[in-house]
Amino acid sequence: MLRIGLLTSGGDCQALNATMRGVVKTILNKSKEPVEIWGIEDGYQGLIYGRWHKLEWQNLSGVLTQGGTILGTSRTPFKRLDTPEADGVDKVPAMKRNYNKLKLDCLFMLGGNGSTKTANRLAQEGLNIIALPKTIDNDTWGTDITFGFTSAIDVATRCIDDIHTTASSHGRVFVIEIMGHKVGWIPLHAGIAGGADVILIPEIPYEMENVVKAIEQREKDGGRFAIVVVAEGAITKEEAAMPKKAYKKKVAARVKPSVAYDIAEEIAQRTGREVRVAVPGHTQRGGAPDSQDRIFATQCGVEGALACLRGEFGIMVAKRNNKMCCVPLTEVAGKLKYVDPESDLVREAKALGISFGD
Ligand code: F6P
Repeated sequence: MLRIGLLTSGGDCQALNATMRGVVKTILNKSKEPVEIWGIEDGYQGLIYGRWHKLEWQNLSGVLTQGGTILGTSRTPFKRLDTPEADGVDKVPAMKRNYNKLKLDCLFMLGGNGSTKTANRLAQEGLNIIALPKTIDNDTWGTDITFGFTSAIDVATRCIDDIHTTASSHGRVFVIEIMGHKVGWIPLHAGIAGGADVILIPEIPYEMENVVKAIEQREKDGGRFAIVVVAEGAITKEEAAMPKKAYKKKVAARVKPSVAYDIAEEIAQRTGREVRVAVPGHTQRGGAPDSQDRIFATQCGVEGALACLRGEFGIMVAKRNNKMCCVPLTEVAGKLKYVDPESDLVREAKALGISFGD
């Protein structure tokens, strides 16, 4: 009997179910022995507290196009992994106990950076873990792409498209805030796909003077409106030069809801233009996966299942240079993948006339 567990951890995304379907269908198709599948509920919390249920193939049928996660998810921050829960439960020993209680041969963990660090820790504690690279942010080190990313770009792009018409009618400047945590992958891609005039991402600190210049230039050129796409982690050159602690303090002291509102106010003051803010927020993680995500999620599920059947554990499934592969968790854990400011895409966007405010 082969016993596998599935767990989705951290912020959700559109292609989690599609990935789990890929794992389950492949395992059932290829395993030479009978298979038992356990769905761990609500991320690592379910493993800590013993919340799970048995899954049959029917549970994974018809979910290819279904966003969210049929298992539920939660955040269990890595930095608090060795701090007992409020009720005194010690997380790592509890997870090991429950893994053994279920007699798992392998646990598939679908998660982003923090969750992968925890997976690496559990692998070092002797658990057979296979991580699958989930996150809309696309910041997982060791893989060129993560599932959830292309669907989020699509949602963000549609938002920018829709704002164009109203921005044009009113001749306004719009600041659109796009998710991505500490990196700028979604704003960069959606900004280009949506025809933004300015794109501000954490990897390229900006100066407000340059942003204002770009908006004024567009007006001089006859543009009635301007679209400024701002990463949620956008940062000025001055802020980038600050010690990390001081910057964190500044962000914590922010009175407005988020960075887009600060930027919008400054643009309005400096240009005298009418400025509005749009924040698509969690819609970027919602809805059905796009076709690219469905394909990549399926590839991840299939490759993860095949690795499990080969007895290869302590790895993350990845895509590198268009080839699917497995990367050791020890190599991935704790690293972030940033946008390269010298990349072709940034160079081309600049050549097109998009300002990054630098
Ligand atoms: O990691 C995905 C993500 O959507 C980030 O882009 C964003 O910073 C964060 O999660 C939001 O987290 P939460 O869902 O906890 O509000």
